[in-house]
Amino acid sequence: MTPEIKPFKIRDIEISPPLILSPMAGVTDVSFRRLLKRCGGVGLTVSEFISVEGLTRNNPKSKRQMRFYTDERPFAAQIFGGQPERMRMAAEMAEEVGADILDINCGCPAPKVVKHGGGSGLLRDHERLETILKEIKKAITIPLTIKIRAGFYDHTINAVETAKLAEACGVEHIALHGRTKEQGYRGLANWDLVKQIKETVSVPVSGSGDITTIDQAFARFRETGCDGVLIGRGGMANPWIFRQIEDTMHGREVFQPTLADKRALLLEYFDMLREDMPITPAINRMKQLAGQFTRGLVGGALFRTSLYHSHSVDEILNRIEEYFTAIEAGLPYVGEGAPIEEAPELDSCEAATVS
Ligand SMILES: Cc1cc2nc3c(=O)[nH]c(=O)nc-3n(C[C@H](O)[C@H](O)[C@H](O)COP(=O)(O)O)c2cc1C
Repeated sequence: MTPEIKPFKIRDIEISPPLILSPMAGVTDVSFRRLLKRCGGVGLTVSEFISVEGLTRNNPKSKRQMRFYTDERPFAAQIFGGQPERMRMAAEMAEEVGADILDINCGCPAPKVVKHGGGSGLLRDHERLETILKEIKKAITIPLTIKIRAGFYDHTINAVETAKLAEACGVEHIALHGRTKEQGYRGLANWDLVKQIKETVSVPVSGSGDITTIDQAFARFRETGCDGVLIGRGGMANPWIFRQIEDTMHGREVFQPTLADKRALLLEYFDMLREDMPITPAINRMKQLAGQFTRGLVGGALFRTSLYHSHSVDEILNRIEEYFTAIEAGLPYVGEGAPIEEAPELDSCEAATVS
């Protein structure tokens, strides 16, 4: 491996390679995580954020979100909420189902999450955060980790203080997405804060935000000295990015997926989704991934339009077949309707439900 990038440990759990599939609500469910694991290069997977209110009240959706496959280990379950007692109960449940790591979401900007004191709300209420971390720490034996943002408002950046508090409470890995709650997903992530946290605490530190290429991953490791990087949206656009970064770390030839690989990946994902959920949500998730995944492919905009107008499994399968057959043969894809030039913005955790 290149000197600046090497595996790291969260207590005795090796994160190798030090590349983490960033949690994304509505995206990183069991099927997506399994798909990316199969593409290679993912050292740690994290669930979508799971509502502790839902979990501790036996909400079926929240319980489903806690599922994972043994072959995706190491696996971290991420929970969110603002009530120390509920957070503790949910943390115990995560340990009981066998998660390797328990991660606390301190970053979600959605008003309905923040209103209850959870997500990024914890960044402006360190007293509550401390109580929650200490409660959980007493109750579980698996490592406790945290994912934070730069701060709540643009003028109250306190990531370093939050990291210090977390470490003092026994947190064993800190991940920073260097945007504030106020910023949402605008602008660029501040990676200098990752460096500052790394220089301040002694537990491992990882950074998140805007990595979409191999070079960017290397640059972030080099500039900040961080132990790991998280990749979210970049993994939807290019599910092989983790493997490609790992190839580069080992000085191997970088894997370049063929059109046949891309077609197979979409079909595999659709199979997994249909196995796991009813048809309508499976179709919607398929469209979501295809929207990100086909950016930049020849005829991709027309393909997306055709897919968005498809409402049955057969229609989706036919569109995939037609599209890839055409472009593999070097023929123009004619599709249907006017092209959608841009895939719709991802929902982020705004769509979260707190029951
Ligand atoms: C659709 C979407 C959903 C997200 N859901 C979560 C979540 O559940 N938990 C979390 O900690 N971060 C969540 N995030 C933030 C990402 O994990 C990540 O920190 C952020 O997108 C920046 O990294 P990226 O540029 O690699 O995507 C979400 C982001 C997106 C785009």
